[in-house]
Amino acid sequence: MKLFQAIGVAAGILLSAQAAAECEFAVEVGDTIKFNVSTIEAPASCESVTINLTHTGNMAANLMGHNWVLTEDANVQPVATAGMAAGVDGSYLPAGDARVLAATKLIGGGESASVTFSPGDLDASKSYTFFCSFPGHWAVMRGQFKLI
Ligand code: CO
Repeated sequence: MKLFQAIGVAAGILLSAQAAAECEFAVEVGDTIKFNVSTIEAPASCESVTINLTHTGNMAANLMGHNWVLTEDANVQPVATAGMAAGVDGSYLPAGDARVLAATKLIGGGESASVTFSPGDLDASKSYTFFCSFPGHWAVMRGQFKLI
């Protein structure tokens, strides 16, 4: 009985470790207006999804800043436009805006930032885009976020 319990605990640990790996995504950016991934597919079964953003370039955040922002497709431009007033210190994002579903802070070369959110708050029937809200970047620096 105790042996079976031990095996059960060990199996549970392995399963949760595997689930966590599937729910964590490394995203890289450099001194160009481009993410290294164009699509992120996260299992809907993830309790939480974590995006680890790394800026491998050298340029400062006020010149070539990048963040990872998630909204519904149609909200990319409105959110990016509304975020301009927040400036670099406000990560070019409107504060407390419900259209922003997840976002890292804006980072420059050599920096990294993470965000964790619950896919349970998303609607699998809707289409989501991740983008950088730095002025001008959002038009091309973007990709699709899918729940699978
Ligand atoms: Co950017």
